[in-house]
Amino acid sequence: MESLSGDIEEVLFSQEQIAQVVGELGARITDDYAGKNPLLISVLRGGVVFMSDLVRRIDLPIALDFMAIASYGPETRDMGVVQVIKDLDDAITDKDVIIVEDVIDTGLTLNYLMTNLKARRPRSLSVCALLDRTVRRIADIEVKYKGFDLPDVFVVGYGLDFKEQYRNLPFVGILKESAYGDDDLDSV
Ligand code: XMP
Ligand code: MG
Repeated sequence: MESLSGDIEEVLFSQEQIAQVVGELGARITDDYAGKNPLLISVLRGGVVFMSDLVRRIDLPIALDFMAIASYGPETRDMGVVQVIKDLDDAITDKDVIIVEDVIDTGLTLNYLMTNLKARRPRSLSVCALLDRTVRRIADIEVKYKGFDLPDVFVVGYGLDFKEQYRNLPFVGILKESAYGDDDLDSV
């Protein structure tokens, strides 16, 4: 591998496009939550890059928390079987919670997460996703804050990985076939 970006076939969303959209989402959240102290929950690990940029575009007192769930294995991909690897540090009862996700695909992961979080009685619960691949959606989810619609292609960068690599690319792009090696995409 010569350089990270040398493995990219096509840039789908550039650094500039992402910055613009993140700014717009931050401004909307700032308006919508005026007078409130929202709690932003990021889903590790892919959501972290988006979350860290997003919070700097929100002009409100906010709090952060993190959750890690495993959902995208060969056995679990189509079943919505989700395992909590790391739970939130603090209670969310009576809080205005915003879940910050990198990408929503089938929606099964988020569906599970929302059911789990609703049971903790937040005052409100909404979703902010950078990428929304609605063509593969199975679960019915309202994505109040959406960055980009994503076609049915696997992408990396800006938090998204292939085998834990490429998360630090500043854009979202499609990998060259050569970068996959012999690996089956269904197993990531
Ligand atoms: P579901 O299907 O439950 O899955 O909505 C959401 C999770 O699947 C992963 N995912 C991807 N990861 N590039 C990635 O690096 C992609 O194109 C992609 N599509 C889905 C991701 O972990 C997300 O949280
Ligand atoms: Mg991943």
